[in-house]
Order: sequence, then C-alpha cells, then structure tokens
Amino acid sequence: MFERALFLALVLLCCEAQNVGLLSSTLDSTPHVVNDITKPPIFQKVSQVSGDLSLDLKGIILPTLINDSNVLELTDQIISEYNAGLGNEDITLNISELVTKYGYPIKRHQVTTKDGYILSMYRIPNNGSAVFLMHGLLGSSDDFVVAGPETGLAYLLSNEGYDVWMGNSRGNKHSRQHLVLDPSQSAFWDFSWHEIGCYDLPAMIDYVLQVTKTNKLKYVGHSQGTTSFFVMASERPEYNSKISLMVSLAPVAFLGHMKSPIIQLLAPGNPLFHSILQSLGVNEVLPDNSASRILKRVLCGVGLLAEIICSNLIFLFIGFDFGQLNVTNLPVLYGHIPSGASVKQIVHYAQGVASGDFRQFDYGDSKTLDLYESNVPPSYNLKNIVAPVSLFYSEADWFTDPRDVDKLYKRLGNVIDVYKVPYEQFSHLDFLIAKDFKTLIYSRLRKLLNNV
Ligand SMILES: *[C@@H]1O[C@H](CO)[C@@H](O)[C@H](O)[C@H]1NC(C)=O
Ligand SMILES: *[C@@H]1O[C@H](CO)[C@@H](O)[C@H](O)[C@H]1NC(C)=O
Ligand SMILES: *[C@@H]1O[C@H](CO)[C@@H](O)[C@H](O)[C@H]1NC(C)=O
Ligand SMILES: *[C@@H]1O[C@H](CO)[C@@H](O)[C@H](O)[C@H]1NC(C)=O
Repeated sequence: MFERALFLALVLLCCEAQNVGLLSSTLDSTPHVVNDITKPPIFQKVSQVSGDLSLDLKGIILPTLINDSNVLELTDQIISEYNAGLGNEDITLNISELVTKYGYPIKRHQVTTKDGYILSMYRIPNNGSAVFLMHGLLGSSDDFVVAGPETGLAYLLSNEGYDVWMGNSRGNKHSRQHLVLDPSQSAFWDFSWHEIGCYDLPAMIDYVLQVTKTNKLKYVGHSQGTTSFFVMASERPEYNSKISLMVSLAPVAFLGHMKSPIIQLLAPGNPLFHSILQSLGVNEVLPDNSASRILKRVLCGVGLLAEIICSNLIFLFIGFDFGQLNVTNLPVLYGHIPSGASVKQIVHYAQGVASGDFRQFDYGDSKTLDLYESNVPPSYNLKNIVAPVSLFYSEADWFTDPRDVDKLYKRLGNVIDVYKVPYEQFSHLDFLIAKDFKTLIYSRLRKLLNNV
C-alpha cells in the first residue's frame, strides 16, 4: 500500500507538472485572473458547482497575500518556485532515508495494540528526555520532518538533545498491519480517533517508557494528535501520571465553531452526506477521487494556483496560508501527505460539529442505545485530564476556532499555558510547516519543554 500511495503521489505530481507546463505557455492569452480573489472559491468563481452545497464560508479567513493588483506577478512567482522544487529527491525518500540524509540517526520500532494493530514508530535517539510526537488527521510521523532540517520539529528537538519518538496511528501508511485483519477488509477500518486514544497511544507510550526506562514523557500532539490524547487521558486516566507535559498544537476537541468546508459537507443532515461518503471510499479516505475533485472546484475554483495548491486533499480539509507557505517545498510535502485515515475518523469529527459536544461515536438509534445504554453517546470527561497541558492556537485556523479552544480551556483540569500565535493568517498546517515556525512556535515550545 505504501507503494500505492507513493504511486498516487507521483501521478499527482506528474499531472501537476504537466498542467503547469501546459498552462503557463498560455498564461498571457488566458483570462484566468480572478475578479473576486479574496472571496470563495479561493482562486476563481465556479458558480455552477456550488449551487446547493449550503457551504458557510463566512467565518473563514482566506489567504490574502494575493490581490487583484499583484495576482499575475505572484502567480508567476509561485509557479516558478513550485517548479524549482519538483526536482527535489526528498519527494520520494521515505522517512528513514530523509532523516539519514540530513545526518541524524533513525530507527523503526513496532508495537502491537491490545486489539491487534501493529504500529510503527520512528525514533531519532539522543541522550535527553523522551518527547513523543503525534500527528494529525491524514498525517504520519513524516509530518515532523517534511519541512526539512531547518524548521522540522523532530530535527529542532533532536538538536537540543531530546530523544524524539514519532507515533503512527492505525490505518496510516506506516501502520497498515494487524494480527488477523487486512486493510482490504472493512473490519480493519472500523475505528475512529476514539480507538486511537484508547489503544494506540497507550501502547506506544508504554513502549517508549519501557525502552527508555523512565516513567514519564513529554507529549506534543498536532490536531488529531491532541484529540486522541484527550480521549486517552479522560478514558484511561491512569495515563495522566505518565505525562510530564502535553503540548497541543492546534487542539481539536470541541468543534461547534469549526469552519472547514469539507467537514461541514460531511456533517450529518447535509443532503450530500451520503454520496460524498460513498465516493470518499466507504472505509478508507482515498486521496484522489470524484469527491475530492468536486470539492477542489467548489473551494478553489480552477486555474494554475488551484492546480498547485488544491490538488492536495490536505489543503481542502484544513486550509492554507500563502504568507507562511514554502512553495518550493510543496512537492516534498505532497510526496508525504496525505497518509490515509478511516472515513469513521472524519464522520466522528463531523458529528462533533453537529452536536457541539466532545463525545463518543454516534451509531444511530439502536446500536447507540445498546452500546452506551443511552440515546446520546457519552461525553468525554475532561475533568479526568490532570496532566499539565499547554494550548497553541491561531485566529485563522479552519479547524481550531478560538471559541472552541476557550471552551476546552475552561473544562480541562490542568492548563498551564495558553498561546495564541501572533500571526493572523496562521493556518492549521502552519503548526508543522510554517516558514517562521522557529520564531512563531518553536521558541515558546522549547521554553515549555525545557522547564518541566
Ligand atoms: C496587494 O498585496 C500587496 C502585498 O501582498 C500589498 O503591498 C498591496 O498594497 C495590495 N494591493 C491592494 C490593492 O490591496
Ligand atoms: C525506506 O527505504 C529504505 C531504503 O530504500 C528501505 O530499506 C526501507 O525498508 C524503507 N522503509 C519503509 C518503511 O518503507
Ligand atoms: C549527550 O550526547 C552528546 C552528543 O550528542 C554528548 O556530547 C554528551 O556528552 C552526552 N551527554 C550525556 C550526559 O551523556
Ligand atoms: C523552503 O524549501 C526549500 C526546499 O525544500 C528549502 O531548501 C528552504 O530552506 C526552505 N525555506 C525555508 C524558509 O524554510
């Protein structure tokens, strides 16, 4: 399957390259320039598609570096930066090859969960204390190195002497094995981030503590890597004592104000719910299919920039920000993201948008009643979370709305730091790949880690 993902990524890249080449030769004669550049769709109006989608894009802060007067110039610049990145060999290197190339040691470890999933972790060993990094939805351990040795979080931590461990949740490209199930069976995909929190994180954390012969570690989660942590720490409270500090980069728990259009489309009750679900693939989220192509047109429109930025599912899910985007590095990013997820993970998030609550999966009437002895699934008990937590968030994040962060903050038992990134356009993915990651995120993160 890894090969298949790689193949898809290469096909995508190759098609993009062709489009770019083809279209840039007609750049002068094609009236592709947008009138409405700062309004949705992001790059160009596509009125006929967006008719009945009932998308609420009002709350979204769209990328604004581009405007009517500089669009031509910036388009040219972005295309040439992107093309310059296409020859980078990092696109096809796997995580072990990448980390080795930049002069760091790396070793793969495997751990089996109580319910039979075989997960891979990657470790960049060093003699400092252990820091466990957990990726977000559609991500993997690669997320922490893909920005390169200058700003990738795993490298920065290793430079400080930390013993860096990177987890991989069930179903992503590094964790597609099970004792008895196979990814071709739908039973393999019957999980959401609830199971990642209840089984995957405890198994990986116990393994790290055992290998490093310690009883506490520092945990840094991005996005779903925070959701699954909150699930673990509330459902299996004995794990709180194994965490000396938990850092949430773009925490996701309450979703009542979430702005991601793709999740809105998937919210139960939206008429498109069913058909989109089907074309996403019933069990697994596939990177390229008719649903993502339609969404791409609705959200981004058509044209060169849409081809470059929005051909990757990840940007459709969580948005992007020109100011912090290293366009030359985009091909490398596309070679490693997205990494696979189950549709149930996304549906579980969509349920949170509809309910405004942070609670277990809703199976519909009878199964929910059988399972939980109630018509509504039980809420996660956040008061159980007593490990020290710090929250990093930003104003423009489509997924993590400041109002939802505030709600989370008020319910958690032990928040020791809350930090709003001082950069308005900062997006959900910028917490991993921002050009100014070092000054906007790492300087704060480093102080927190060094002080516990
Ligand atoms: C367009 O954006 C550039 C920089 O991003 C800015 O300097 C310029 O003033 C903007 N022009 C208009 C008309 O908003
Ligand atoms: C990464 O590449 C190396 C060298 O080609 C190979 O030995 C290794 O198995 C690969 N790792 C994964 C997880 O595919
Ligand atoms: C930790 O490793 C560094 C080299 O990476 C070494 O210089 C240092 O002496 C080591 N410290 C301890 C306490 O082992
Ligand atoms: C942008 O990406 C390129 C290619 O990966 C890299 O060489 C460069 O250092 C990056 N720039 C910044 C500011 O991170």
